[in-house]
Amino acid sequence: MHHPKIKDFPSDFLWGAASAAYQVEGAWQDDGKGPSVWDVFTKLPGKTFQGSNGDVAVDHYHRVEEDVALMAEMGLKAYRFSVSWPRIFPTGRGEVNEAGLAFYERLIDSLLAHGIEPVLTLYHWDLPQALQEEFGGWEDRRIIDDFEHYCVTLYQRFAGKVKYWVSLNEQNYNLTNAYQLGTHPPAVQDRKRFFAANHIAFLANARVIKAFRQHVPGGLIGPSFAYSPAYPASCAPSDMLAYENAEEFTNLWWLDAYCFGRYPQAALAYLRGTGEAPEILPGDLELLREGTPDYIGVNYYYTLTFTDNPIGGQTMQRINTTGQKGTTPSSGVPGLYKTTPNPHLETSNWDWAIDPTGMRIALRRLSSRYGLPLMITENGLGEFDKLTADGRVHDDYRIAYLQSHLKACQEALQDGVELLGYCAWSFTDILSWLNGYQKRYGFVYVERDEQGGSLRRIKKESFHWYKSVIASGGKTL
Ligand code: BG6
Repeated sequence: MHHPKIKDFPSDFLWGAASAAYQVEGAWQDDGKGPSVWDVFTKLPGKTFQGSNGDVAVDHYHRVEEDVALMAEMGLKAYRFSVSWPRIFPTGRGEVNEAGLAFYERLIDSLLAHGIEPVLTLYHWDLPQALQEEFGGWEDRRIIDDFEHYCVTLYQRFAGKVKYWVSLNEQNYNLTNAYQLGTHPPAVQDRKRFFAANHIAFLANARVIKAFRQHVPGGLIGPSFAYSPAYPASCAPSDMLAYENAEEFTNLWWLDAYCFGRYPQAALAYLRGTGEAPEILPGDLELLREGTPDYIGVNYYYTLTFTDNPIGGQTMQRINTTGQKGTTPSSGVPGLYKTTPNPHLETSNWDWAIDPTGMRIALRRLSSRYGLPLMITENGLGEFDKLTADGRVHDDYRIAYLQSHLKACQEALQDGVELLGYCAWSFTDILSWLNGYQKRYGFVYVERDEQGGSLRRIKKESFHWYKSVIASGGKTL
């Protein structure tokens, strides 16, 4: 669709940036915080890049005023962050840790004082370790009550201050890594357990959305979904079918459950045939339908291209965690689909396809299928940035990436998508879960590596660029 004319961004568009607790806060044992599964997992040998962990991260917990001052200088309209569950309930439930709540209250108050809309994520993967040990975390329905209790505690405290909430961040990506690839805690490789845990996470998501309606009138809540739209490798019918399989199994399995309260038909029938389908108890689907979201948070980084994969074919492979371009193998599910490089797209050093049009396609597919407002809750480019002798970080490749993706947002708006805002990933550099500190995303460089560093903040070129884009309401794009 080529538009002869394109409208400006809406005047209330949320020009934002994002982060997550484990990736920025550090202070892993301060002020009564309990351990999360990531505090434990990252200390096991060989699990992360050079054994990196978030014990200190970029020390946002102790530098929150400095970081918010930088956000204000940039003119940010929204900041998405996550709350660490074990900072609020050190063992997952029981006595609330007031010091934890106070930290987030300080952050929220400071954002509001600078006219920055807080976007609060309830869960960005840092499950209290105690719940993992007690009953296996997401594998047991007991987690639903604990998660609801934690979320309601936050609703009650911040209802008057926070309008935009994210329930689960990337349930699809996190649980696929946790229960299929074995690369996130608890590092299991079992598809039956994966689908079972994932079903329980849907129920928890719906339960806290249902509770939200009572506690946060006027607020908006939805999950953030890692949406990598599927493409067929060619117009061969076998590739088209592989693409349909991939879209159902890797995307609609989550999106239909969140928004329609049901699983896609062909995928469910297939899993019933293999004995891997989740157990759906009476009342489960009703709960899903009572807890549908107000909007969908979209974490978009790349598209994936699929081709046919016979029974006995390509299995699932780990993602590239080294930044050595061209080293990512094809990954698939035998009998369903496998990935293949898209010859039309350049990739990052981590082999992630750079595809701004894919973002427009993502937004249009979601908007027309579900009829809900959308928010880009993550989008960005992870690269090896260098602090050069002039004391600057010349990340023109990041500017090009963000600019092309923001243009795609503008086109999607023109296509009729209701897009509330765009949160670039990330505001400062962060700890990339499996890639350490070498894979940088921020507008603000943080001087540290896997061994440590001064933690000094340095504005990258992209900081100044985004600042001028925000000031112009997107007109300078
Ligand atoms: C998303 C997560 O998967 O993508 C973020 O929500 C993460 O927490 C981001 O950092 C980029 O992924 P990675 O693996 O490059 O850090």
